[in-house]
Amino acid sequence: MKQQIEINVNGEVQPAIIEPFDTLLHTLRNELHLIGPKQGCDTGGCGCCTVLVNGESRYSCMTYTMTVADAEITTVEGLADGRNLDHIQQAFIDSGAVQCGYCTSGMILATKQLLSINSKPNDAEIRQGLAGNLCRCTGYHKIIEAVKLASGQTTGE
Ligand code: FES
Ligand code: FES
Repeated sequence: MKQQIEINVNGEVQPAIIEPFDTLLHTLRNELHLIGPKQGCDTGGCGCCTVLVNGESRYSCMTYTMTVADAEITTVEGLADGRNLDHIQQAFIDSGAVQCGYCTSGMILATKQLLSINSKPNDAEIRQGLAGNLCRCTGYHKIIEAVKLASGQTTGE
């Protein structure tokens, strides 16, 4: 049975009509029209649906909306300040870490969580921190460069 809830996404509390077993990915994309989180495997295996729930990265395809109705949810749409990109978004662009872009919003949010707990990760720590996010295009090298740029360990030159 459908019901209306309120959900806090990107700092804004807004109504959403959901079924009890709707996933957060479904609610974000189909109710709130936030298409940054991507639908890939839908089974917790690729990470392209990653969002932050209370600052922690989470597969939105594996999360029931009902269970996060009281949480603060961040999608990639919530990172930029108007036309100014978040520094992680900018680092991905400057490093050439975006090709098809399907994995990118999940990678950026996973990076945001990683840098919140380890501000200067080394290569191994970056690989481990992003292990739940797959990219079929870049070979990961540019993504690691982007994380190092975003964390101030390189200048991008
Ligand atoms: S779509 Fe959620 S992990 Fe693949
Ligand atoms: S840029 Fe295409 S999957 Fe990562």
